[in-house]
Amino acid sequence: MPANRKSHFHYKARQLFCEEVPVGQVAEEVGTPLYLYSYNSLIDGYREVCHAFSKLSPLICYSVKANANLTLCRILATEGAGADILSGGELYKALQAGFPPQKIVFAGPGKNKEEIEYALRENIFIFNVESPGELRLIEKLSRQLNQSAKISLRINPDVDPKTHRYITTGKRENKFGLDFDEAEKLYSQVKKSPLLEPVGIHFHLGSQITSLQPYLRALEKILDFLELLKEKGLNLKYVDMGGGFGISYEEGKLPLNIMDLAEKIYPLIKKTGAKLILEPGRFLVGPAGVLITQVLYKKNRGKKRFIIVDAGMNDLIRPSLYGAYHQIKKLKEPHGAGSPEVVDVVGPVCESGDFFARERPLPQITEGEYLAIMDTGAYCFSMSFTYNARPRPAEVLVKKDQWWIIRERETYKDLIKEESIPEELFSSFRGSPSSSKSCSARPLGEKKALSGPIPFTKLQGSGNDFIVIDNRSQFIKNGPEFSRTICPRKIGIGADGVLLLEKSRVADFKMRIFNPDGSEPAMCGNGARCIARFAHLKKIVGEKCSFETLSGKIFSQVKKNRVRIRMKDPSISQLNLEINLGDGSYTGHFLDTGVPHFVLFVPEVEKIDLPKMGSRIRYHGKFQPEGTNVDFAEIKDDTVRMRTYERGVEAETLSCGTGAVATALAANLVYALNSPVKIKTGGGDLKVYFQKSGTHNFTQVSLEGKAEVVYEGKWEGEVSQCSKDVM
Ligand code: LLP
Repeated sequence: MPANRKSHFHYKARQLFCEEVPVGQVAEEVGTPLYLYSYNSLIDGYREVCHAFSKLSPLICYSVKANANLTLCRILATEGAGADILSGGELYKALQAGFPPQKIVFAGPGKNKEEIEYALRENIFIFNVESPGELRLIEKLSRQLNQSAKISLRINPDVDPKTHRYITTGKRENKFGLDFDEAEKLYSQVKKSPLLEPVGIHFHLGSQITSLQPYLRALEKILDFLELLKEKGLNLKYVDMGGGFGISYEEGKLPLNIMDLAEKIYPLIKKTGAKLILEPGRFLVGPAGVLITQVLYKKNRGKKRFIIVDAGMNDLIRPSLYGAYHQIKKLKEPHGAGSPEVVDVVGPVCESGDFFARERPLPQITEGEYLAIMDTGAYCFSMSFTYNARPRPAEVLVKKDQWWIIRERETYKDLIKEESIPEELFSSFRGSPSSSKSCSARPLGEKKALSGPIPFTKLQGSGNDFIVIDNRSQFIKNGPEFSRTICPRKIGIGADGVLLLEKSRVADFKMRIFNPDGSEPAMCGNGARCIARFAHLKKIVGEKCSFETLSGKIFSQVKKNRVRIRMKDPSISQLNLEINLGDGSYTGHFLDTGVPHFVLFVPEVEKIDLPKMGSRIRYHGKFQPEGTNVDFAEIKDDTVRMRTYERGVEAETLSCGTGAVATALAANLVYALNSPVKIKTGGGDLKVYFQKSGTHNFTQVSLEGKAEVVYEGKWEGEVSQCSKDVM
């Protein structure tokens, strides 16, 4: 606990209290093991950092990895903090908690493609880049997504922070960051790139640092380097010093004196003219949390005394992993003198490394009583796991005399929720018909997909019909083949496409869509409405949800049979684009609303020879290599009547959601039609809502219309690809 911070855990009437709540009472009600956090301790920690560094008014990005609980994050976000993240999952949690993307910095030596794309789409503040390959990938993905990226390079200054070797990150032998020479080369590459903007420099020396020297030594090196960059014409706007501020785990051991640190670095940072970014984690949440555990048994072996408690190394791994010291307190204040006993406090896990204290003198402890393991707000729950099939503890927040469960205790059911047993594996041993020889060489999932029965729901949205399947257990592995088999009208079920609802790491679920020809478009507005209705009907989500598509995240809201979906902000590629088709030239408007659309306004839409015109425009050289969808539209009394030729279906469909959006936006730009634009399609009516920013940009674009269930069924899969293979 930092020396100057008031503890919010104290004894009153011989009971341990968190703020004004007796901890024992919460333990009785919620059960143990249990993490308990003090709201005011968290707030004090944050404000202490703000106060210490106030002369520099830094951006304080809370290091979410210390504790990613949504409520704790929300408290800090509400105080004005940003977030330091390391993964796509942390980005997701940070956004869910309410950290604005403009205050999120992303470090980590192994960011993968999916994570970088996600961060680019969310337009986060800064990528703290750690290798040349990562920089190349960010640039490539920025180009693909047409989204610029702000870059700081993470420097490894080769400074020893004198902390545990597992949490030392700024020494040359550590995997983190770049050395100065390499960074110099990379900064000039960043400077040249049209999509990358060099904005800052980053370093993070390690964690639980208790002396000022490492920070000052590293800053000295960084400042010299900034001078060099300045001479080369590069002025960086941000210096990010990372986190690492140490706290006091043991009585008598001092935390990092952040007032002193702030005082010493003030002139250095001032000299650079840059804004300071800090990334504290432990300093904010560490002292704000305790782990409450109940003593199960006491036993002696020779001179050894064991206190066996109901928390294990899976709930709190710091002692096992780093030999970390955490004070252990009784919830009942010990009576004065009573002679201490030297004990090992150990957990129930089947490992001898499962301990919280070794050979530690503690006041007399009895079976059944509760203990508090102190300063466990940081890197404790966030590093917990379920080894020995032990569900993770509950988390509780206390504020004055109130408390809330902010994360339920995991249940046994939670332990198996991600798993599935492929039933076929066992039925085949019993000689079930599904173990037919002709299929036996196929991957398990695919074989199941082609041997049914597969439950599906047929839905239609404005005349676009879809076979929708809950594929969270991934039994359909080959979407294109499945779609080609099942979509044909006479020999399959018949549909404009297949929608697979799959698991997502960034949203409530993921939508994958396959055309009858097996191609996979990035997005389909009517399909999106149908899958949102399906997910709601099957109670997979509530009325509002978000789901992932290949063209980004979609938000939806279901009201009875009407579904409104928020679409990705569109990009207007070209207005008044003239194309020549041999028999004359045609002018239209090219927009990307998740997929490309070429919109042509005509006097009488019914008179257009759509199959002919559509197919010629769809493959026109101007739209190569991907081709485009083609929409013809006629405006009458503020309503747009439209017809679409769909790429992939290669024919006219009764309606197309992304086409409706493209047409509505083009109608606004060309004919000043206001939101909501009413659209009439062969399959029904749609409304397109949007907000305009500037002359050509649209935000908050959403599409609303009916999405209705046609019927439910089971596909028996007799018309299978297997029989074709055999032939
Ligand atoms: N910034 C970066 C880039 C980081 O990697 C970290 C922590 C921080 C900031 C926040 O550091 P803090 O202020 O919390 O010290 N599991 C270990 C600690 C690992 C720290 C990882 N990086 C432990 O339990 O001690």
